[in-house]
Amino acid sequence: MGTSIDIRGELYRYYDGEPQRLREHVQRVCTLALELGKSHDLPEVEVETAALGHDLFRARSNDFLCRQASHYGIKRSDWDAAPILYHGPLAAAYLYHEHGYTQADVLLAIACHTNLSRNSAMNPVAQVLFIADKIEPGKPKGYNDEIIQLAKRCLSKAAAELIRYIIAHIQQNESYKVPQDLREALEVLILRSSAENNWQPAKSRCFMT
Ligand SMILES: [Fe+2]
Ligand SMILES: [Fe+2]
Repeated sequence: MGTSIDIRGELYRYYDGEPQRLREHVQRVCTLALELGKSHDLPEVEVETAALGHDLFRARSNDFLCRQASHYGIKRSDWDAAPILYHGPLAAAYLYHEHGYTQADVLLAIACHTNLSRNSAMNPVAQVLFIADKIEPGKPKGYNDEIIQLAKRCLSKAAAELIRYIIAHIQQNESYKVPQDLREALEVLILRSSAENNWQPAKSRCFMT
């Protein structure tokens, strides 16, 4: 476990200089993440810090993201074609190195918020952030209300349902491949969820295949 320093005030101030669209997105993610976190008695400070920190570098240029990824030693050759993928890991590295923030669950949640991952799939703070980031009220409506209600009962099941939806959407509408991190997160969630009673994926939905 890391220290429990509270950097929320600094994070709120950070967004003063960022685009309005990003500020509003982060605020909506915060609101929804706190609502979901409250349903599961997650520490408010951790959930809010993860939500505030997740998109610190979302509005930065590809050149900036690649340079900073090199600086912090987190370069991944398979990400150079899509440098935006660095913004989560970079935010976590920045908070760790520049703010001395070491709460591991929160840093992992921030680093993996775009696609979750094998390591973060069962981390409740990461699940809350992943879900809230994808279905906050400013995002296109899918079946967001259903996911929110499911997430209030079980974060793992909601994360799995959401990943199934995202994978189906990518396969049907996008030219890029389904990210490996997303597939691996779903594998973990399915393995863990299959041990629980009374849950079947919503196979009746066409986008759930
Ligand atoms: Fe993001
Ligand atoms: Fe975001």
